[in-house]
Amino acid sequence: MTTPPTHRWLRWPSEPERPRMGYGADYNPEQWPREVWDEDVRLMREAGVNVVSLAIFSWARLQPERDQWNFAWLDEVIDLLHANGIAVDLATATASPPPWLATEHPEILPVTQDGSTLWPGARQHWRPTSPVFREHALKLVTAMAERYKDHPAICAWHVSNELGCHNIYDYSDDAAAAFRTWLTERYGSIDVLNDAWGTDFWSQRYTRFEQILPPRQAASHPNPTQQLDFKRFSSDALKQYLREERDILHRITPEIPVTTNFMVMGETKGMDYADWAAEVDFVSNDHYFVPGPQAVDELSFSANLTGNIAAGKPWFLMEHSTSAVNWQPINTPKKPGALRRDSLTHVAHGADAVCYFQWRQSRAGAEKFHSAMVPHAGEDSPIFRDVVALGQELAGLSDVVGSRRSAAPAAILFDWDSWWASEQDSHPTDRLRYKQEALDWYTAFLDLGIRADVVPSAADLTGYGLVVAPILHTVPAELRTRLEEYVSGGGNLVASYFSGITDENDHIWLGGYPGALAELLGIRIEEFGPLLDGESVSLDNGTSATTWADRVHTRAGDVATLVRYTSGEHAGAAAGTRRAVGAGSAAYVGARLGSEGIAPVLADLAARAGVTSELPEELRGEVEQVLRTDGGTEYVFLINRTDAPVDITGVEGETVTGEDAKLAPRSVTVRTRAVRTA
Ligand code: GAL
Repeated sequence: MTTPPTHRWLRWPSEPERPRMGYGADYNPEQWPREVWDEDVRLMREAGVNVVSLAIFSWARLQPERDQWNFAWLDEVIDLLHANGIAVDLATATASPPPWLATEHPEILPVTQDGSTLWPGARQHWRPTSPVFREHALKLVTAMAERYKDHPAICAWHVSNELGCHNIYDYSDDAAAAFRTWLTERYGSIDVLNDAWGTDFWSQRYTRFEQILPPRQAASHPNPTQQLDFKRFSSDALKQYLREERDILHRITPEIPVTTNFMVMGETKGMDYADWAAEVDFVSNDHYFVPGPQAVDELSFSANLTGNIAAGKPWFLMEHSTSAVNWQPINTPKKPGALRRDSLTHVAHGADAVCYFQWRQSRAGAEKFHSAMVPHAGEDSPIFRDVVALGQELAGLSDVVGSRRSAAPAAILFDWDSWWASEQDSHPTDRLRYKQEALDWYTAFLDLGIRADVVPSAADLTGYGLVVAPILHTVPAELRTRLEEYVSGGGNLVASYFSGITDENDHIWLGGYPGALAELLGIRIEEFGPLLDGESVSLDNGTSATTWADRVHTRAGDVATLVRYTSGEHAGAAAGTRRAVGAGSAAYVGARLGSEGIAPVLADLAARAGVTSELPEELRGEVEQVLRTDGGTEYVFLINRTDAPVDITGVEGETVTGEDAKLAPRSVTVRTRAVRTA
């Protein structure tokens, strides 16, 4: 199969030879009368828009009945965009099935855990494993690819839309059949499955695969390994669907790269994107800013992880918002400067395209109160003025296009299995939040001004001076070996509470916690230490722990205590430890400290590991610094994390965009300088 070109890195029909930062949005012209389209392209040109995602929710228009097809309107839109120099990221249009399909084939509709049907009327009402849905959807994909294969406006294919956003977990009979096939491939025999699932517990021993169901609503806690495998299967089922659309597109249009928009954001956890990334020709992501105390850090975390899922290669920010969303309980607009800051933060972490949901704010439908590039107020509005200004600014950042996110000195491991397994039911506490713990470590790194990558757990760790593994709950033997090798090779590992507890089958590693990592860390925990709501314990560094506080026993002679409890049942016992291993080390933090409590412990561990901030002291915590590199050139992004001006004169480099001296609240400056050699 031909590998589609990823130019430097997409072809923009208007300027095919010149790299350009992509700028645009989801464009839904079918919601508007024809005359608005002319106004749209006029405003797109004014804003510097050079790419739009088209036809995402157009199935009902393109195929209004089983045997009726209507491409004329789409032909016209694509031609109009092309005539105006705007490239098209063309959706396969399969995201939301049309009424005739759901009416004729209700067996495509997803079923919830308690057996309810998810009816049509919203979107994404299809079972990932439905053969009937596949038949119809893949027919549409084929029709789209055949029709537009030679159109010069098409710069990429956009498979479906946010696969799994609403339909990741389907408990239907189709899902049950596909789950059995998946399990048969994974385990080979029912006895192996029985061992893996520990089915001698509660009389669950199976004699045939046909007896197995998805973990439907049950009388009590469903089998945990069945639950974990169902999560793995559900991610794989959608990945398989993605492949099927992609293979058709690659066959018919081998020259056009294929992507799909991931949702590396917030608590969206059903899809293991680290595992999906190899299936697309370039990674795309959607991110929505949800106001809150760590909102700016969460945006950076998401962009950072996306950049590392993309293995440092540039990626495409497919959606974010110019201002308010519509799906929070209270949807506040973005503060002045935030539109630009949010976009440029994604660029800092490797995005080479900045796109929004959506171009023109809808008049009707569930998202009519969601912001857009052209708001209800029209072009005479602060949002559109900001949009035009950002378009001009991005055009001035063309040199950044194609540069790579530079590796950081430290890393945070992010592991989907651990996310899934650690938050399952019947655990020591249901208060534990995997993503929040990882984000707290990230915030602590930002507060200290130390760059850290958020990397999938399969990433190569060589080169990182410090690696933090927050709640690395699921540790198969292979991962344990990699972590041991990292440490014996001089690396410095930090694991948090509830790490190393189970293997890939969610079976406990015996002999004392933290199981798989106990030997490496040189510690032993005999009972977990969840805390009740409202309870906290003090530590001798002046901080305190909530939610979780392990009583840590250290191995004599080998392991130093970094921090101790000063109150509660464990007063006097170790809460944080460090074992020196040759030039490296293995440290443990056995309590939930929150970002403020993590910061002093992390400062200590980073100093011992020789990992330091690259920022002048007065900027640490105030500014996030992110680096992209292209040959000998380094692009330095300085992002103001605060609502106050920050003096950035102490950072070297020539300003490409943004302020020279005082970085305004919520502002970003991009500088360029020669890569410094150590
Ligand atoms: C995304 C989706 C878009 C739109 C947007 C609103 O999940 O892909 O179609 O719904 O959210 O924030």
